[in-house]
This record gives sequence, structure tokens and C-alpha cells, in this order.
Amino acid sequence: MGKVIGILSLKGGVGKTTSVVSLGAALASFGKKVLLVDANFSAPNLGIHLNIIEPDKTIHHVLNDEIDVQDAIYDYEGFGVIPASIYPKKQFDPLKLKDRVRKLKHKYDFILIDSSPALNSETLATIMASDELFVVSTPDVSTLTMTIKAIALAKKRGTPITGLILNKVYGKNFELSLEDIEKTSDVPVLAFIPHDVRVLESQSHFIPSTYFKPNSDVSVEYKKLAACLSGEEYKPFRMKDIFQRMSPEKQEINRELFYRSIFVK
Ligand SMILES: Nc1ncnc2c1ncn2[C@@H]1O[C@H](COP(=O)(O)OP(=O)(O)O)[C@@H](O)[C@H]1O
Ligand SMILES: [Mg+2]
Repeated sequence: MGKVIGILSLKGGVGKTTSVVSLGAALASFGKKVLLVDANFSAPNLGIHLNIIEPDKTIHHVLNDEIDVQDAIYDYEGFGVIPASIYPKKQFDPLKLKDRVRKLKHKYDFILIDSSPALNSETLATIMASDELFVVSTPDVSTLTMTIKAIALAKKRGTPITGLILNKVYGKNFELSLEDIEKTSDVPVLAFIPHDVRVLESQSHFIPSTYFKPNSDVSVEYKKLAACLSGEEYKPFRMKDIFQRMSPEKQEINRELFYRSIFVK
């Protein structure tokens, strides 16, 4: 039975869709069966990231009972995608997402849901449909404030939060540190993703960054997260990875603890 993981933040532009695509592609590269679902119903762009432009069957058609969820799945290289309509024509019920996604759980190892940032039933749909959540944040006070609000919302609904993806890190002194973010949010940082203009470049080619630049720091970090979630061994052999293994960063330690808690008996 697959795991449904919602990728959440109550702020746009922090990297939810990028994380869904990059993590999904990384899981697929480990041979996992992966489905990505666009649940940003008002402002969808998961399909656009993957060159699925103006799809004629979408999550909106699934949620207004026009089609079966199975018929809304598009094949990308190595994984499935359910896109959303940019201009949906009929009313739909976001809260049917949980039931529709549940029907696909037996077919996939991982179903990743790209959430809306809106504080309404759209975000609630992701929280309710997910077995667990990742929150995405950038290292600044305004985003962290919204991240904490998202965490509180998820906790109120009883959906566990597995970890925080800290994205677009410039490595500047004025940014919040990983330790500050963990202390304030009380959620372990399981991925520490640098800001890298090649992420934007990969999107201009409609290719997941983990496929486009497989050895970049961004890609390696998403692959390490994917490995820890799926119980795979992944030891990249770049010089800096060898040094890092001798003196692991906090996110490495968090991933190791998570991996052991799930896969080592
Ligand atoms: N690590 C990163 N480095 C550089 N740009 C990034 C990174 N992650 C995301 N971006 C860019 O930030 C923008 C917003 O990302 P997106 O994933 O669409 O955010 P969200 O889904 O949270 O609104 C996109 O243009 C994306 O290319
Ligand atoms: Mg998005």
C-alpha cells in the first residue's frame, strides 16, 4: 500500500511544486512507483512544470465526478501525473480528493500531493488526503511565520508532519539558521536545499531538476531525501559528500534518525 505525502506551505513561491517534481523524480529514479497530484486547484502549475499544457482530463474532472481518477493520469518519464485545469468549467468538491486518491494507493509506492497555499478547503483537501505531510519553508521570518501556521493547521487535523524542506537557502548570515527553524517549528529539517538558478533553468526545459542536473547540490539533496523515505542506500561520491559523511550536517543526522526509525528493526 502506497504512502500519500502532502507538500504544504501557506505561502506561494517557496518551492512546493518544485519539491513535488524533484522529489517525485528522485523517488522514481530509485525504481519506486510514483504519482504526482496537483491539488493547487485555483492556481495550478504542476502540469506546466512537466510540459503537460492544457490537459483535457484533470483532477477537476475527477472531483466533479465527470471521469474516473484512473483516467486523469498522464505518463511522464518514470512517473504518473494528475494535472489540474487552469480554467475549470464546473463546480467541484476539493474534499473528495481523499477518497479519489485512496483508490490509487494500491498502485503506487508514493503519491505526492502539491498543495494550494490558500487558507481554505483547497489546503484542507491536501491535509485530509495525506498520510503525512512535509512543510516547505524558506529561511526568512515571514515565510517561517506562515510555516508555523501551516504546521498548527495540520496538527489540528491530526495529520502527522514528517519533516521540513528548507528551500532556497543562499547561505547568508542574515538568513534564519536551520537550528532556529527547527527550534521554532519543532519539526526536523529533512532537506536543506540551496538556491540554485539551474532549478529555474530546468523548469524552462520542463524537466525535473533532479533529471536535468543530477549531480547538483539541489538534486543530491532531493535524492538523499528520497532515499531516506524509501529505504534505499544512496551514497553519492562527490568529494564534498565524502567529507560530509565524516562530519554530517544536522539534516543528515535527521535523515539517518528517520531512516532508522522506519527501516531498521
Ligand atoms: N532551490 C531553488 N533555487 C532556485 N529557484 C528555486 C528553487 N526552488 C524553487 N525555485 C523557483 O522558485 C519559484 C517558485 O517555486 P514553486 O515550486 O513554483 O513554488 P510554490 O509551488 O511553493 O509556489 C519557481 O520559479 C522555481 O523555479
Ligand atoms: Mg506551486
